[in-house]
Parts: sequence; structure tokens; C-alpha cells
Amino acid sequence: MAPKCLGIALLLVQIFIRSSFQQSSATDDSYVVGVVEFRMELLNMPIDTRTAMNLEAYKELMRSDEAKLTDIVVFPELTLNTLMDPVPVPNPEGNTIPCIPDSPELLSQLSCLAIETGKYIVINLSESFECDSLPDNDPRPCDPTAVHRYNTNVVFDRNGTLITRYRKTHLFREPGTSVTYEPEIVTFDTDFGVRFGVVTCFDLLFAEPTLELVKLGVKDFVFPAYWVSEPPFLTSVQIFESWAYGNDVNLIASGTNYAPAGSTGTGVFNGRNGAVFSFFTGKETRKIFPVRVPKLPRSNSPTTTPPKKDCKTVSGRSGGKLLDEVNMGTDIPERFTTALIKPDQVSKVFNRTVCDGDFCCDFHIDFETRGERPVSHLYRLTAFDGVRTFKGYAEAHVSICAIITCLNENLASCGLPNYESTKYLKFNEISISGDFIANGTLVMPSSLDNKFHSLDAKYYQFYSTVDYPNDRQHVQLTLSSSVSNLQTFGIYAFNHKDFDYFIPDAPPPQEDSTTTIRPASGWLLSLGLLCIGKSMIF
Ligand SMILES: *[C@@H]1O[C@H](CO)[C@@H](O)[C@H](O)[C@H]1NC(C)=O
Ligand SMILES: *[C@@H]1O[C@H](CO)[C@@H](O)[C@H](O)[C@H]1NC(C)=O
Ligand SMILES: *[C@@H]1O[C@H](CO)[C@@H](O)[C@H](O)[C@H]1NC(C)=O
Ligand SMILES: *[C@@H]1O[C@H](CO)[C@@H](O)[C@H](O)[C@H]1NC(C)=O
Repeated sequence: MAPKCLGIALLLVQIFIRSSFQQSSATDDSYVVGVVEFRMELLNMPIDTRTAMNLEAYKELMRSDEAKLTDIVVFPELTLNTLMDPVPVPNPEGNTIPCIPDSPELLSQLSCLAIETGKYIVINLSESFECDSLPDNDPRPCDPTAVHRYNTNVVFDRNGTLITRYRKTHLFREPGTSVTYEPEIVTFDTDFGVRFGVVTCFDLLFAEPTLELVKLGVKDFVFPAYWVSEPPFLTSVQIFESWAYGNDVNLIASGTNYAPAGSTGTGVFNGRNGAVFSFFTGKETRKIFPVRVPKLPRSNSPTTTPPKKDCKTVSGRSGGKLLDEVNMGTDIPERFTTALIKPDQVSKVFNRTVCDGDFCCDFHIDFETRGERPVSHLYRLTAFDGVRTFKGYAEAHVSICAIITCLNENLASCGLPNYESTKYLKFNEISISGDFIANGTLVMPSSLDNKFHSLDAKYYQFYSTVDYPNDRQHVQLTLSSSVSNLQTFGIYAFNHKDFDYFIPDAPPPQEDSTTTIRPASGWLLSLGLLCIGKSMIF
């Protein structure tokens, strides 16, 4: 260990002794979170054995040296119990402390673990409920003889008190699980001055409750996920980072690790500053990562200081092992309107407009090739505006302007994962722009490199100019660094119907003004994809 780190470590020990458990305070400009990439036990054993083994692994992670510095630990989705052994969860309004020493009950053990380690813990589990616990305004029939379950996140504070219960709204292939009558808008406050919104996996692609929470000014989100990556736009840490950037919020994502189902992806995404930490791997992993999270200002003011570095926390982009074992889903490239970039074309600097119906994307490209290297893949300029399905379980209206990778000239090969790039083609400059709907639309930059991470946010600029009277926003994305490891670079938008939602930090203006320019920052100015249901696993 370097001497400087040792000094910091000693200081931290002193702080630790002074304040027992609490690491960060309300006045600090950052806090430390433990994100967990978790390979769960398989269903090849009795269910209670499996749950006990998963719980034992949770305890080990919570007690590990890596967890010492953290204030809050977030565990991923579906990695503890299952539909077959759901547990009742008390209403948080009761401020229950479920901990009873030596009790075998799951909630008791988790509550005791929070007390023992003095940390907030966010857990996703399968909850059972009785008909008489349903709210009075729920008119749906309920069978009193059946076992009912929700897919639920619970949060314990440092005292082991159950402070939050969030029941998942957007299920993805989860037969046997109920949803609440109305989406729950759930937040919790912490003693380090951060209010967290709670969302799960597939929720990320919908307006409610997720964007409602953004509208309420929530700047930090905990997000347990069992995400099935789908190139070219919806691989896990790629869309996590895009979403956090588009909303300028912190997204704290803990991912289930199960490559056969295409699932990996854990990280901390710090709004317009991009990823503080991003992890994606095909290798079996059960690991906690301590990450220092810079708090984001609630207002429109751009963040100017990069996150503090310290020796005990991790940052950067890592993973990258056995990527071809991650069994990813596919988009439907045949529906895209595209134009092929020919590596041998005479003019390596050109402008081109590609339209899908009335929706047009303008591209300005400057690239060079290294002739001696074999052509490992091709690129297409892509425009798409339309409704896509997520395997028939949900639909979304998306608008896309992007450059995507194709393995060959066949359109069906576009968006397939490209593991072997010879880096024969280097983009020196890319500028992409298009006119998107304003009201109800979340526009995001989307990028993907060969290791399945987004590009560093300082490599690009993202601007939108909003024309409120015409309900349009002109969005521009510019790559300002040379890159040769690109899979995807573009603008990706979800158009949410019947959702009164503008750009997060540029609310609709009063009658007199008509346009607002929203600069994006990064450090310059200054997170069939799909979350799987239990039945699917294994
Ligand atoms: C834990 O309990 C103590 C004593 O009751 C209280 O002062 C403190 O605020 C509680 N901490 C949290 C995080 O709830
Ligand atoms: C919680 O876990 C369940 C099953 O254990 C999972 O299906 C669901 O997506 C999670 N729910 C929430 C709200 O995170
Ligand atoms: C592309 O368009 C830009 C902006 O309109 C213009 O400045 C530039 O000269 C054009 N480049 C080419 C190669 O046509
Ligand atoms: C935006 O859309 C919502 C939902 O359709 C609508 O209620 C609202 O009036 C719209 N806002 C503006 C400024 O057009």
C-alpha cells in the first residue's frame, strides 16, 4: 500500500472509531455505497437451503472489509428467496424492528444484520400478503384461499428498523406475482442527508413511478436489477448510465450475475458526469464494491468537481471477462432505416441525413481507417421512430438516431455483440442531431464500447434546444474525442404517452419565452432486456 493511502487509511480508522458506524454526514459532499454483483445459488437444492445459502453470502459481504466504509448496501433483484418461500413484510409506518436474536426468520436476520453492521440495507425479496391487507380502493377480486405475492424491495436503517417497502410495478415475465393497484411512489431519507427513490429493473423504462420521482426532485436512486442485456442500446450498464445522464441523477445499480440469462451489470452513475464505477462481466461473480458517490445539487447548477478519489473505494470501468458467455437479447434491426458506412469510401468526412418516415437524423462523420488491419465489423447510420415490443410483455415508443455496429453487410447482423474488434476504423468526430418530441419524452445519450461500457462522459457533449410551442426539442450529440472501440453512439429517447414530463432541469416556460437551451456537461463544463421473472431462471 502506498504511504499516502496508509495515511488516509489511518485517518479513516480514527473516524471510524469516533463515529462508530456512520461514515458520511449530511454536510459531506459525498457518501459511500456498497453495490453488489451477485451470483445466486441455483435451484438445484431444497428451497430453504438455497435461501439460507444466499442469506449467508449476504452476511459475508456485509461483514467484509470492502463493506466497512459504506453507509448503505444495495443487493440485486431475485437473489435471496423465491416465489416458493415468500415472507410477509410489515407496513413501514409501524417502524418495526424485526430483529429477534437467533430467530430463523428472514426479515429478522436481515434486520439484525443491519444492526450488527450499522448500515442501511436495501433488499429485494418475494413478499406474501393476505387479501385483508389490500387498500380499500382496490376493486380487484382477491382469492382469500390463495397465496399472494409481490415483488418487493425493503430497506432497513442502521437500527434495523424496516423503513421502506416498495412493491414492483412493471413485472417482466413474472407469473404468480401481483402488482399494486396504483404504482407506489416510494422514497426514504437517511442520516447522511440523502433522500433515495426506489426503483427496480424494468421500471427504468417507464414513466411511472420512476420519472414521477425525478419530477419530485429525487436525485438518488437505488436500483436492484436482474437486467438482460440487449445491444445495441439496452445493455445493462449502458442504459443505466444513459438514464442517469438523461435525468441528471445518481443511479445506484446492483446487478444479478447470471450470464446464461444475459444478466450482469453493476455500478454507480453520477448524472451528467457519467459512471463513477461500472462493472460488466460474463464471469461468475459475487462481490461488493464500495463506491464514493458525489451528491448532486438539486438545482440546475452544473457539478464542477470530479469525485474524490480514495484508496478504499473503487472507480472506473471494470469486468470484461468471458463477455461472449453473456447470453444477450436482440433488438429488431430490420425495422431500422440505415445507411452503411463503407470503410473504403473516398470521402472520410461527410454529412448524411437518414429518415424513418418523418423522423430525420442528421449525421456529420469524420473517420479514418488503418488499411493494414482486417475489417472486423461495419457501421450503419440508423434512424428509428416507432413502437417496439419487449417480447410482447410491454411496449414503448422509442426514437433513435445512432451509429451502430454490424458484423457484416446483412442488416440482421446489426446490434449483435461485437467481441473482436481489430480497431481498423477510428472515428475522429461524430455529430448527430434530430428533432424529438418534447412533452413526455426522456432523451438520452447512448454509447457502447467493446467492453460493454458507455463512453466516458467527457468524450461527448449533449445539448437540447426546446421549442415549447411546437412540442419539439432539437437534440445534438457530439463526439469530441477519437475512438476506435465503438459499438454504439447515438441519441435514444422514450416517448411516454400521457405523461406531463419535460426535460428534467428545464421545466416548461411561462407564456412569454419559447426556447431553452439545456447544455449537458460531463466534467467539461466544470445506467430483450429485460428483467426476468422467477419462472424464467434456470
Ligand atoms: C437509531 O436509534 C437512535 C437511538 O434511538 C437514534 O438516535 C437514531 O436516530 C437512529 N438512527 C437511525 C438511522 O434511525
Ligand atoms: C424483488 O424481488 C423479486 C423476487 O424476489 C423480483 O422479482 C422483483 O423484481 C423485485 N422487486 C422489486 C420491487 O425490486
Ligand atoms: C456538413 O455540414 C456542416 C454543417 O452544416 C458544414 O459546416 C460542413 O461543411 C458540411 N461538411 C461536408 C463535408 O459537407
Ligand atoms: C404534456 O402532456 C400532458 C399529458 O398528455 C398534458 O396533460 C400536458 O398538458 C402537456 N403539457 C404541455 C405543456 O403541452
